Formats: sequence, C-alpha cells, structure tokens
Amino acid sequence: MNAAEAARLLAEHGRLVEAELEALLGWLEGPQSLAAERRLVAAMRHATLGGGKRLRPFLVRAAAALGPAEPAAVLRVGAAIELVHAYSLVHDDLPAMDDSPTRRGRPSCHVAFDEATAILAGDALQALAFEALARTDWPADAEQRAELVAGLARAAGARGMCGGQALDLAAEGAGLDEAGIGRLQALKTGALLAFACEAGARLAGLAGEALAAVLAFGRGLGLAFQIKDDLLDATGSASLLGKPTGADAARGKATFLRLFGEAGARARLEAVRAEASGVLDKLGPEALLLRATLDLVVERQS
Ligand code: IPE
Ligand code: IPE
Ligand code: MG
Ligand code: MG
Ligand code: MG
Repeated sequence: MNAAEAARLLAEHGRLVEAELEALLGWLEGPQSLAAERRLVAAMRHATLGGGKRLRPFLVRAAAALGPAEPAAVLRVGAAIELVHAYSLVHDDLPAMDDSPTRRGRPSCHVAFDEATAILAGDALQALAFEALARTDWPADAEQRAELVAGLARAAGARGMCGGQALDLAAEGAGLDEAGIGRLQALKTGALLAFACEAGARLAGLAGEALAAVLAFGRGLGLAFQIKDDLLDATGSASLLGKPTGADAARGKATFLRLFGEAGARARLEAVRAEASGVLDKLGPEALLLRATLDLVVERQS
C-alpha cells in the first residue's frame, strides 16, 4: 500500500468519523436550550465538523487492523480523541496562545464567535470526549473502557498535550536545546497521536511486545508529524493548510527548523521516519496501514 491509497482510505474513514462526531454533538441538543447554550454548541460544531484530516481516528483504525477489533469501538475511540484534538486547536488559536485567525480554512473559533465562547467550547469538547468514552453504548468491557479513559486523560493532561503546550509557550523567543524541543514535541503533539496508536492496538487485543512496538511507532510518528507541521509552517501553502504560515518564525517558536535550519529539520524528519518504519518490521504484514500512514504524515502538504 502506498501513501496515495492510504489517503483514499483516510478520506473514506473520515466520512464515518464525521457521522460519529455529528451523533456525539447531537447529545447536546435539547428543546429547553436557551440562545447562549445553542451558541456554545454552535461554536463546538464550528470547531469540530466539516474539516481536518481526521488523522488521529485513522491511526486508531490502522493500529486496530493488527487484530480483531469491533468497528463501533474503533470509531467511538477515534471520535473521542478527535474531540480532544479539536478542543486543543480552539485553545491553541486563542490570543493568549498562538493568536491565530484561521483554522481549517475558516475563521478560528474565537474569531467566528468570541474568546469566552471559544474557551468554553474547548472545555465542553473535552468533557464530551470523556463522556463519549465513559458511556456504555459502544462495545468494550468495563476494564478496557476505564483503561482508555485513563489513557486519554494522561495523553491530554499535564504530562501530555497540556504540558507540551506549556513548554511551547514558555520557549517562545527563549529557545530550547535539542532535547528540550524533542520533549516539547513528544508532549504537545506526540502524546495524543501515540495514544491513538495505542488505543487501536488495545482494541485489537495486542499485548506485550507487539503493544510495545505500536507504542514506539506512535512516539516516532508523533515526532515526525510535528517536525512536518513545523516545516509546513515555514515552507507550505497557507491555502492548502487552511491556517497561516510563517507564524512560528514570527513568534520565535522553539523548533528544529530554528535550531538546525530547514535542511537540518528535513534530515531529522527522515531519521525519525526510518526509525519508526523499522519498528513496524516487528509487527508483520498487518502493519501495512500504519506504514502507509507514516508515509502520508511525512509526505503531506496539508
Ligand atoms: C494540527 O494538527 C495541530 C498540531 C498538532 C500540530 P492537524 O494537522 O492534525 O490538524 P487537522 O486536524 O488536520 O486540522
Ligand atoms: C499545536 O501545535 C498543538 C496542539 C494544538 C496541541 P501548533 O501550534 O504548531 O499547531 P498549529 O500549527 O497551530 O496547527
Ligand atoms: Mg501552538
Ligand atoms: Mg498554533
Ligand atoms: Mg504548527
């Protein structure tokens, strides 16, 4: 399987994810809602529906292909991770963070609505993600469900995405060394992407060495993803990306590009890709979808 075929499958799975997200957001509509509540839900829908690559839900699916997994569970877990991701983007774009006016080719949530609504929409998207996992209307046993709830909380929290965002903001202008940037990237982006891989593998019943291999792959893919995101900020097309370019340099973000230049960041990306790809050799032919997804992440233009 090549990256083009993976892109087709990604788009196909994305349509299922969109329907699942619609259904989850539908839980929030009620006849008694007043205008301000409806506006909050509208902001959540703006931030979640009709855009985005849906890479994290696809990673759940790609890892779940390593064993027998319930399609309904794969979709629910992927959608929960996507809700946390959507929330993280809403808050990332706020004036207090990256102050970014566009996202997914549209005005950012705080621009389309207002700052307070965007903060609340992010908070409520995160709450919805955990409700979606904790409810018992999808197939998982109690222990597995609790493990996934705890895993998503870890990946999203102070030792995961939020911790990484704190490092990212603190390093603006101040810089970080190579190890510091590696940690920043592993947390702010890698944690959620790696959790998507881990969750898929757990749904497929993987344990022991096979699970450890998927975890190592997820960490590598997460690093590759963020290095590529940084490269696209410097060299990509704003219209393809649906968000501004040049923002990292303007804000003095700590990236490998800033430390090693474009060629250095590209070399690093290739090294990380080779290592992640090598890990997949341990998993046999069923890992072909994960391998193609890695290619997609490295070769993408959006
Ligand atoms: C962008 O993530 C934010 C980072 C974690 C770097 P994506 O590139 O996956 O954004 P969408 O979901 O496709 O919009
Ligand atoms: C954001 O990283 C990562 C999270 C939202 C957790 P960036 O700030 O680099 O993401 P973009 O470039 O705005 O999408
Ligand atoms: Mg940011
Ligand atoms: Mg940003
Ligand atoms: Mg970026």
